[in-house]
Amino acid sequence: MRTVEITDDMQAYLDGLVPPRDEVLARMEEEAHRENIPIVDPHEGQLLYLLVRISGARRILELGTATGYSGIWLLRGTNHGNLTTYELDHERAERARANFSAAGFGKQALVIEENAKDGLEKLDGRFDACFIDLLNSFKSEEITRRVLELCLERLDPGALLMADNALRQGEVLHPDNQQARNVRHYNDLVAKHPRLESVVIPIRDGLSVARVKD
Ligand SMILES: C[S@@+](CC[C@H](N)C(=O)[O-])C[C@H]1O[C@@H](n2cnc3c(N)ncnc32)[C@H](O)[C@@H]1O
Repeated sequence: MRTVEITDDMQAYLDGLVPPRDEVLARMEEEAHRENIPIVDPHEGQLLYLLVRISGARRILELGTATGYSGIWLLRGTNHGNLTTYELDHERAERARANFSAAGFGKQALVIEENAKDGLEKLDGRFDACFIDLLNSFKSEEITRRVLELCLERLDPGALLMADNALRQGEVLHPDNQQARNVRHYNDLVAKHPRLESVVIPIRDGLSVARVKD
C-alpha cells in the first residue's frame, strides 16, 4: 500500500491534531517563518520529543542548532537531560542561547559555535541520542560518511540516531546535485550499517531514525 497523499485538507487535519505550542515555541515558529530560518515543523518536533521520551535518552547531541527550536523539543523529551548542539552562525547561536534560557533550559543546553565535524573530532563524552540536522550542508559524500562515523563513536548501544531531510524533497530518487547525493549516501550507509537498525519516516522532508544495536 502506498503512503497516503498529504493533500492540503489532510495537512490541515493533521495540523489540528498537533498539541498547541507554548509561547516560546510559537514565537520561534513565527520568527522562523518571517525570517526564513530552516527549522523542523511542530509535527517533527513532536516526533523528536516522543522518540527521546520513549527511549529514555538524557544526553543529547545535535548538529545544526539554528535558533534552538528542535533542541527545545529534544530537551523536553528528556528527564532533566542535557543537550550539546553545534551551530556555525554566531547570530543564530546567540539567539539559540536566549531561546533555551527562555524555555527554562539555560543550564542544560550547550551551544558550541564551530563546524560540527571539527567539533566532533575532539568532543569527549557519550550520548543517548543524536539529531543530525545539517545533512543538506556537507560538501561531499566522504564528509557525510565521516560525520556519521563520528556520531556513532559517541553513541552507546540502544542510542537513537536521527537525521532530518532524509528525502530531500524527493531528490534522493534521482540525485543531480552534491547535497542530494550526500543524503542518499547517508541513507544507504545507515540502512546497511551493521551497528544500526533503521527506518526513514516520510514526515515533512523525511526523518531517518536508527537505533544502535546492543
Ligand atoms: C536546518 S538548520 C537547523 C534547524 C534546527 N535543528 C531546528 O530544527 O530548529 C541547520 C543549521 O546548521 C548550521 N550549519 C550548517 N553547516 C554547519 C556545520 N558544518 N557546522 C555547524 N553548523 C552548521 C546552519 O547555520 C543552520 O542554522
